[in-house]
Amino acid sequence: MQTAHTLDVLRTRVSSLRKGGETIGLVPTMGALHEGHLTLVRRAREACDHVVASIFVNPTQFGPNEDLDAYPRQLEEDAQMLEREGCALLWAPRVAEMYPDGFVTSISVSGVSEGLCGADRPGHFDGVATVVCKLFNQVAPDMAFFGEKDWQQLAVIRAMARDLDLTLPHVHQIIGVPTVREADGLAMSSRNRYLSEENRAAAATLPREMREAIARIEDGQEIAPTLAALEDALLGAGFSKVDYAVLADASSLKPLEKLEGKAARLLVAARIGGTRLIDNMGVG
Ligand code: PAF
Repeated sequence: MQTAHTLDVLRTRVSSLRKGGETIGLVPTMGALHEGHLTLVRRAREACDHVVASIFVNPTQFGPNEDLDAYPRQLEEDAQMLEREGCALLWAPRVAEMYPDGFVTSISVSGVSEGLCGADRPGHFDGVATVVCKLFNQVAPDMAFFGEKDWQQLAVIRAMARDLDLTLPHVHQIIGVPTVREADGLAMSSRNRYLSEENRAAAATLPREMREAIARIEDGQEIAPTLAALEDALLGAGFSKVDYAVLADASSLKPLEKLEGKAARLLVAARIGGTRLIDNMGVG
């Protein structure tokens, strides 16, 4: 596997990968890789001739009081994992390469980016949309692979690709890959490593209580009291705050007051010991 730190090197290597008309799958990441990321790489390898993974801790998607400085960085270890998975090229730009002096552009996707995490993390999805658009332009992949754990992020990226008429990857080539979970059900996340042993054990309450709430909703119980009971269960288990627990239309992310026969999703963000965990699951 080769590594590119500059745009010139990236472009040369991408065009040599494409030489015989081969296809490229992009797996954008912020590093600190885990099994969830490696599943994206495997999925990309099945669908495309070559996989390009990017590792870039994108400063513009972190708020002023968030964990940008503390975010885990382990480029060498990550590179070894990607190589073992058969990744062809690692794109690991420095901040000044991605955002040179004078950089002034931002992409803002309204609607899907506004509620849920968008409400708690102002500017976050502008940062995500802008860097993902740049990554798409830099690599011009045929397909791009994202974890469904960040369901709202996936919706924002799809809306951006559709509205900006991106052809590589076209909106239909933006592939969502189901969330990979630990044995106790906790969704894998680079931020799980921030959890103390005690909080890590309590964190498994999140998927468990979500499944319980989904079973009740599918059983016909009212949505609002079921979501209130879910919040109470999380607070009782050691979570300090539930930012949101919402049943939403799976595509528009608009909150639903009842199951209307359309695809629905239960989405939750909750804080435990200073770490913010998110999860989502299909309903109905
Ligand atoms: O999901 C992530 O790791 C990041 O938000 C992404 C898509 C790589 C953009 O920085």
